[in-house]
Amino acid sequence: MNRIISPSMLSADFGHLERDTRMIDRSRAEWIHIDVMDGVFVPNISFGFPVLKAIDAVSDKFMDVHLMIVEPERYVKRFVEAGADLVTFHVEATSDPRTCMAMIREAGAKVGISIKPATPVETIAEWLPMLDLVLVMSVEPGFGGQRFIEGSVEKVKQLRAMIDEGGYSALIEIDGGVGPDNAGMLFAAGCDVLVAGSAVFRSADPEQTIVNMLEAK
Ligand code: DX5
Ligand code: ZN
Repeated sequence: MNRIISPSMLSADFGHLERDTRMIDRSRAEWIHIDVMDGVFVPNISFGFPVLKAIDAVSDKFMDVHLMIVEPERYVKRFVEAGADLVTFHVEATSDPRTCMAMIREAGAKVGISIKPATPVETIAEWLPMLDLVLVMSVEPGFGGQRFIEGSVEKVKQLRAMIDEGGYSALIEIDGGVGPDNAGMLFAAGCDVLVAGSAVFRSADPEQTIVNMLEAK
């Protein structure tokens, strides 16, 4: 099984974006998670292309871009141009997931689909064979620092079974309320990638926290 940590830059100090990006780059996190919010799909606005480019310029990590925007197909190509290695959009945010997936692929990035806490995994079953990643939201998207929704573990187990039975290669990523305390349980449930914002950046030793998550039992 994979064990990948993807620290969420939403919890970084934007006054010291280069410092925080370099800290993640030195760490054992393989990915760097970038949360893009449009104020429409979620009741919050984060950042866009110029900030992605600035992070990409100082980071060698795999750039994991999580779009919380409506009609993502309008912008996916530009996110790839800004440095995204993986573009994940919400199935609830588009009427045409197939086209959105094709556009990301054509632009040269890996393709992910995310589901909100109330969206059942069956909603994305038909896309599973074509996906590089499924992102299970374990909080309502929009803000860092929320409490993990326990029911998300069941969704991970369901997805793990669907992916294994189908022989698909999609990774399972979980995002929201994740840290050293639940990392071991989430890897055991079938997650490949754990996103962590506040657990990493609000800790006294972020690099050690990443190690603790990787080695969690
Ligand atoms: C929330 C974002 C998350 C957020 C997670 O909508 O998708 O990536 O940064 O923050 P924590 O880890 O603090 O719950
Ligand atoms: Zn996210």
